[in-house]
Amino acid sequence: MKYLTFALAKGRLAKKSLELLEQIGITCEEMKDKDTRKLIFVNEELKLKFFLAKAGDVPTYVEYGAADIGVVGKDTILEEGRNLYEVMDLGFGKCRMCVCGPESARELLQHHEMIRVASKYPNIAKDYFYNQKHQTVEIIKLNGSVELAPIVNLSEVIVDIVETGSTLRENGLTVLEEVCPLSARMVVNQVSMKMENERIMKLINDLKTVL
Ligand code: PRP
Repeated sequence: MKYLTFALAKGRLAKKSLELLEQIGITCEEMKDKDTRKLIFVNEELKLKFFLAKAGDVPTYVEYGAADIGVVGKDTILEEGRNLYEVMDLGFGKCRMCVCGPESARELLQHHEMIRVASKYPNIAKDYFYNQKHQTVEIIKLNGSVELAPIVNLSEVIVDIVETGSTLRENGLTVLEEVCPLSARMVVNQVSMKMENERIMKLINDLKTVL
């Protein structure tokens, strides 16, 4: 039997993914060792391999077939736009992609003004403003702490993830528009879905029973 390989997005999502897999009898003891520097973990009995990758790279590993299955946020799936099957909403990591800014920017959005939009997710921002709102804007790509941008006048608004809303509140910003809801999703390589259909469908069905 061939190994089935999982790419998990490093951090909170990987932890939640492992907890969920554990509920359906899939464990990887090796992975629980916090001090390990190993990158790939094997469950010989179940013929499974797991590795942790930067969230943004998970769709890449899955599209190229280096991983059969990935667990990653919908934000990353939308931003990366890779060819893969999104097969399941895992229900954790729930948050929202929003247009945020100071209350004063609401008017600029309503009047379709030419504004600057800072985001870690330039493709999502572009799709929202150009294809959904038909508003011409300038998109500025940032790599994190995006809430800074409207405070220091780099941009009028941002497109970013809102979970509890406390980052916005503590920085005098607010949600102005909602782009889409987000959560962790299971994605599958298109060839693996055919070649390993039985094993993957069993995994999906087992997960459905605990979700
Ligand atoms: C994310 C996101 C927001 C914050 C939202 O940032 O970009 O900044 O969390 O969470 P909240 O609504 O619960 O405050 P993250 O911590 O991933 O770091 P980053 O700023 O480097 O992207």
